[in-house]
Amino acid sequence: MAKMTEAQKEQLLADRLGKGEKILSVDEMTEEYRHHLTNLMMMQADSELAGAYGYVPWIMKSPDIRETLVVSQIVKDEVRHARVMYRLLEGMGIDVDDYFTKHNFNLRVEEADIGTERLADDKRVNIFYYPINTWNDFIMFNFCMDRGAGHQLEDSLDCSYKPWCDTMEGIFKEETMHMAHGDQWVKRLASDPETKEDIQKALDVWYPRTMNIFGRRGSKKNAVYRRLGLKKRDNDDVRQSFAADIRKNCAVVGLEVPAWTPEEKKMTEEPFIPG
Ligand SMILES: [Fe+2]
Ligand SMILES: [Fe+2]
Repeated sequence: MAKMTEAQKEQLLADRLGKGEKILSVDEMTEEYRHHLTNLMMMQADSELAGAYGYVPWIMKSPDIRETLVVSQIVKDEVRHARVMYRLLEGMGIDVDDYFTKHNFNLRVEEADIGTERLADDKRVNIFYYPINTWNDFIMFNFCMDRGAGHQLEDSLDCSYKPWCDTMEGIFKEETMHMAHGDQWVKRLASDPETKEDIQKALDVWYPRTMNIFGRRGSKKNAVYRRLGLKKRDNDDVRQSFAADIRKNCAVVGLEVPAWTPEEKKMTEEPFIPG
């Protein structure tokens, strides 16, 4: 049989996606599909790894031995998420070992607000450039970012690339546990008058940072991702479902949701994929 041209491949892929079929291997991909899929999976893999590195000091600095175990488990989960995502990327021909040695996933910045900027040539979601300096930061990372990641990654659970869907099932369950850890601690810290003010301050810092990760409303790239079955919703719809979830949870514990002003102009086209 003669080899298919790229145009024929594109037609075939569009037909299959139109019927709701899933892609199982690289051979079935067009160049365009492969390019965008690689980009999205790389953003997730890099975020998972940078996330793990940021948590590491809190294995030793946690408030008690129970929490040392919890943080160790979370670090292990995040490294596992990174590893399985990089393995998928290896399957698509990426030289992951080379990539790993050429990037510093431990890089952090001291600026309080980097907006929607990316600061190095790795593909992590920009929130992973901020250091986790206090236990309240750690808790708010679970409360805001793991929750945001959950909303963002919901689409990947049923995306058009089957191996990614399968991988996401386990990741999603573990992310839910991280979020529950944050919720439990936020409840505890917000109900104690001694700690309430500080956890509110941490929310004021991490909520806007999380709101910045979802990408621009009506982004062209998002439309491409949706055409390829790699996303299902507009960036801003995902952001708004996260915001509603936060409002609901803050109402329960008596915290105030801080204001967030969209930087539409500066905001990247890229719908970031958090870990
Ligand atoms: Fe997580
Ligand atoms: Fe993760």
